[in-house]
Amino acid sequence: MKKITIAIDGFSSTGKSTLAKQLAQHLGYVYVDTGAMYRAVTLFAMENGYIGADFFDKESLVNSLPFINLQFHFNPELGFGEMYLNGTNVEREIRTIEVSGFVSKIAEVSEVRAKLVEQQQQMGKGKGIVMDGRDIGTVVFPDAELKIFMTASPHTRAQRRFDELQEKGQDVSFEAVLKNVVERDHIDTHREDSPLRKATDAFEIDNSELDRDQQFAKVLELVNLRSKTL
Ligand code: DC
Repeated sequence: MKKITIAIDGFSSTGKSTLAKQLAQHLGYVYVDTGAMYRAVTLFAMENGYIGADFFDKESLVNSLPFINLQFHFNPELGFGEMYLNGTNVEREIRTIEVSGFVSKIAEVSEVRAKLVEQQQQMGKGKGIVMDGRDIGTVVFPDAELKIFMTASPHTRAQRRFDELQEKGQDVSFEAVLKNVVERDHIDTHREDSPLRKATDAFEIDNSELDRDQQFAKVLELVNLRSKTL
């Protein structure tokens, strides 16, 4: 079957990465988590004192962009690539609630977006890729053969993220997680550069009531249909 590009966009904690990983594994495709890239830039900004509770030195971050090296290294045990920031594995550090609290601000910066989008487009050149994010079907790969847009109620999504954080032993309240989900939705959909929106040719999947397997079966059907019509 001909290899295609699969773009998965949607609100935070809609299970995009779970679906993307399942698809990549099943199809033998490369999976790219673009949220991890925005999170790694956020971590860099935090570590260098460019962003904090009441300040954001955007100019210093933009000037530092040439010194931010982002790479995915495939981890065969996990079956996907882990995020490395300037040579260091930061998978764990980029998933904290602190990084989640600042990342939307970082993702609003056009210079950051331009750098990451270019790198994402390079990674997708050979097709056979599943990429998830907010602007994949609209900006990164507007010509992707298959576009999926995922939604679920804020409450369902906050519960999922809360369970994940609990599992990792992070001490956080459900209310804080829900607040973060709602705030990120707002910033992600209202920012000037590449706001989150459904591409006109994307298939929308609301998975509030779907389990992992039902969702996977549904999307796999779309992949097969799309690959056959090429
Ligand atoms: O998917 P995630 O929650 O890990 O993404 C983290 C943040 O990064 C999210 O709040 C919005 C931003 N993001 C983006 O603006 N564009 C992307 N392609 C991916 C993520």
